[in-house]
Amino acid sequence: MAKNTLSITDNRTGKTYEVAVTDDTIKALDLRPIKVNDADFGLLAYDPAFTNTASCRSAITFIDGDNGVLWYRGYPIEQLAEKSTFLEIAHLLLHGELPTQAECEQWIYEITHHTFLHENVKKLVEGFRYDAHPMGMLVSTLAALSTFYPEAKEVRDPEVRRKQIFRLIAKTPTLAAFAYRHSRGLPFIQPDNDLSYAGNFLNMLFRMSEPRYEPNPALEKALDVLFILHADHEQNCSANAMRSVGSSLADPYCSAAAAAAALYGPLHGGANEAVLRMLNEIGSLKNVPKFIEKVKTGEGTRLMGFGHRIYKNYDPRAKIIKQIADRVFEVSGRNPLLDIALELERIALQDDYFVKRKLYPNVDFYSGIIYQAMGFPVEMFPVLFAIGRMPGWLAQWQEMLLDAEQKIARPRQVYIGHARRDYVPLEKRGSAPQPERKTARAAT
Ligand code: ACO
Repeated sequence: MAKNTLSITDNRTGKTYEVAVTDDTIKALDLRPIKVNDADFGLLAYDPAFTNTASCRSAITFIDGDNGVLWYRGYPIEQLAEKSTFLEIAHLLLHGELPTQAECEQWIYEITHHTFLHENVKKLVEGFRYDAHPMGMLVSTLAALSTFYPEAKEVRDPEVRRKQIFRLIAKTPTLAAFAYRHSRGLPFIQPDNDLSYAGNFLNMLFRMSEPRYEPNPALEKALDVLFILHADHEQNCSANAMRSVGSSLADPYCSAAAAAAALYGPLHGGANEAVLRMLNEIGSLKNVPKFIEKVKTGEGTRLMGFGHRIYKNYDPRAKIIKQIADRVFEVSGRNPLLDIALELERIALQDDYFVKRKLYPNVDFYSGIIYQAMGFPVEMFPVLFAIGRMPGWLAQWQEMLLDAEQKIARPRQVYIGHARRDYVPLEKRGSAPQPERKTARAAT
């Protein structure tokens, strides 16, 4: 019978080592005994950007990028988007199971009763300049919540964790809405806890002089589904930031602020904004073939919203978003950019360049068009992403804290700087630049 091991021969010494293979992985620490002599630190795995390193064992989200598959706790995203609600999904991600009726009622009650912010947070938001980016405001105010709930640092206490989880899921939309209203110069709207999670968010964003805001059911449902689609995506850049900062036992507000900061980057949460800019630049259907040619020859930009590090097939979230678009446009009127997007997709999916490289629409290709039709300015796009992703960040954080194998995240490095040298007093340094002497050495 085949053994679940890997034999490694070190050609520097001629020695052979046998390393256990578990779940198709080897432990990087099993490489450490591979040394040329006793003084040697031992072999390290070098993996910039973690392209082939599993940093944890996780039971939350499964992705099969070759087949376009995404499951939360085993449930296909298509079923969840069609049948579930965002708060149910938050429970699923955090507790591993869909809630029973009684659990669901209690869960929703707890979240809707933590939506208000301390009045001082308002003052903090008012301190930002009128043109501050809402994502910068969200990152700052998430971190600031840590100062209002100092008990949150007791991260090993399950009851304390439970409370902060409610607060973070409940208060993130309020922080986001305050940031939006501030950038528009509009008064802040307090939460209406009789509305749904998405409905209340729309209320805090868009209510004007009406005594009671009535969210449009189609837009409320579309937003809820968009939150579901963004709720988790396993070990992406922001989830990794949440886990990494949380591993120092920082409180969840500071860890979530770090995760939101990671999301702010254009390579992560900012691509849908780039899609909108690209569609506007193309301007009309007749310009699509010329644009595709420019992408292929490398003269122009990439086709934004296409391609993914993990998905080498149609991103399942993009398929669902495309279906939501029609429902939103029935209310908002058709966004003319949709026709350009559809034509881009039609041509690209038949073109050898895109087919050969397995480039398909990703989640960002259609989401920006929908957000724009719903009345969101582009700067709010990553903020919407952050609201949806909060339960995923918290689930990843909690799983990390409960995992006995995890410790403070602390990667190794390959040192390529100078070998040891002695300090030279200023008067003896001369004027010529010092030569770079490099040596590669693993850090101990
Ligand atoms: N348009 C045109 N060509 C592309 C595109 C694109 N969108 N994406 C990849 N390619 C080409 C590359 O030029 C490369 O071609 P080559 O082999 O001839 O050099 C090949 O496909 C592989 O590309 P890589 O950059 O190596 O793929 P990687 O997995 O590193 O990149 C990424 C993934 C960053 C998402 C890339 O596809 C891209 O830049 N897409 C556009 C930006 C975008 O939509 N980002 C959102 C991702 S989803 C999210 O983060 C929520």
